[in-house]
Amino acid sequence: MKKIVLGVCGSLASTAMPAYVYVLKSKFKESPISVVLTESARYFLSEGALAHIPGVVVVGPDPLGKIRVNHSEVVKDCGLFIVLPATGNFIGKVANGIADDLLTTCFMAYRSPKIVFPAMNSDMLASRYVQKNIETLRSFGERVVLGGNGISVATGESGPGALPDVREILDNIDLFIAGEEDIS
Ligand SMILES: Cc1cc2nc3c(=O)[nH]c(=O)nc-3n(C[C@H](O)[C@H](O)[C@H](O)COP(=O)(O)O)c2cc1C
Repeated sequence: MKKIVLGVCGSLASTAMPAYVYVLKSKFKESPISVVLTESARYFLSEGALAHIPGVVVVGPDPLGKIRVNHSEVVKDCGLFIVLPATGNFIGKVANGIADDLLTTCFMAYRSPKIVFPAMNSDMLASRYVQKNIETLRSFGERVVLGGNGISVATGESGPGALPDVREILDNIDLFIAGEEDIS
């Protein structure tokens, strides 16, 4: 497969990303992975925790007007665009056409369907704002996967909004690639 772009938003779940990226890289050995961290993800996760995984390059964050990473270059030759974890903030921004950082800009510049794994507290997930924005993303053809087996990094409980476990992530990516019907 071609390049993978992995967007990582700022959530407690982001702290689990080094292990997830390791597993993703072992599955897609031939595909380079470009990780786009948001500014908030940087708070939870250091670039170094990912950048030393062979085949992984960290290209964000890039508050517009500062570093100016070219979003077209980031999505060029991308065969799989994943957002993991996706915050309520990120989902709200892209559902409403806002592209004010590198990740949201790449998301909009990439024309094929993308797979999005929200992670947030279940009350936030249940809110009308987030639900409406998820519906919007789905109506635009994006795959939004709501976890079932995951454990919330924040509360230790499983349920809606928790980060799906890595097996569930990989299974959903397989289904997405195979073009299966929405299974969320
Ligand atoms: C400790 C902590 C944990 C957070 N966890 C989440 C979360 O799990 N999901 C979420 O949507 N937002 C969470 N947030 C809020 C986001 O970090 C905040 O909305 C931020 O602006 C997201 O930016 P981004 O979407 O650009 O990454 C958390 C904030 C803090 C301080």
